Amino acid sequence: MRIFLDTANVEQIRHGVRMGVVSGVTTNPTINAKEGNADYEALSKEICSSVSGPVSVEVLVEGVESMLRQARQIHSWAKNVVVKIPATAEGLEVTSLLSKEGIKVNMTLCFSLNQAILGALAGAAYVSPFVGRLDDIGTDGIQRLKEIVEVLKCYQLRTEVIAASIRHPMHCVAAAMAGAHIATVPYNVLLQMIQHPMTTAGISRFLADWQKVTKK
Ligand code: E4P
Repeated sequence: MRIFLDTANVEQIRHGVRMGVVSGVTTNPTINAKEGNADYEALSKEICSSVSGPVSVEVLVEGVESMLRQARQIHSWAKNVVVKIPATAEGLEVTSLLSKEGIKVNMTLCFSLNQAILGALAGAAYVSPFVGRLDDIGTDGIQRLKEIVEVLKCYQLRTEVIAASIRHPMHCVAAAMAGAHIATVPYNVLLQMIQHPMTTAGISRFLADWQKVTKK
């Protein structure tokens, strides 16, 4: 499973890349707004230049024609940009046209197996089931993710599944076990993933034991 960062914070992305574990980024209007930068194009371009892998940037408009127009603009911003389109009937129409033009789409706000199948059939390069938001409404988000991974694999659909709306490290473990191609994780979750109290205790003990010898 690959790891993407679910953030628009460039410092966080650079740190993730330096650690050698982050190979892409997903953003959304909420995440971008958190950075307080109203220049969507400038921020998106900066993010795209901070990581070599795919960067998902969402359309900010509704309606087929408006989404198409904005998606093409977003596509022109960087070589590694992927356009995020919502999982709606209009979104499918847009996805189908964009994929024929060679523009990669991440079908976002995906909550059901049917939405994922349709997104894949329309030509989305990625579908993003929102695990945490499904959990929030008392539905098993990981179970839904598993179904999506299994069914797309069963029918040899090439769309990659991005486990999205990840809230904690156990979501990452479960996403990996479910066979998700990618988990897109917030920065704090990425840092939690590497933490283990026994590693911290082990380092202290090794250093303390070594110091006992050197102080003799
Ligand atoms: C994914 O692409 C979305 O940006 C993100 O994972 C949404 O997560 P949230 O439910 O925590 O807002």
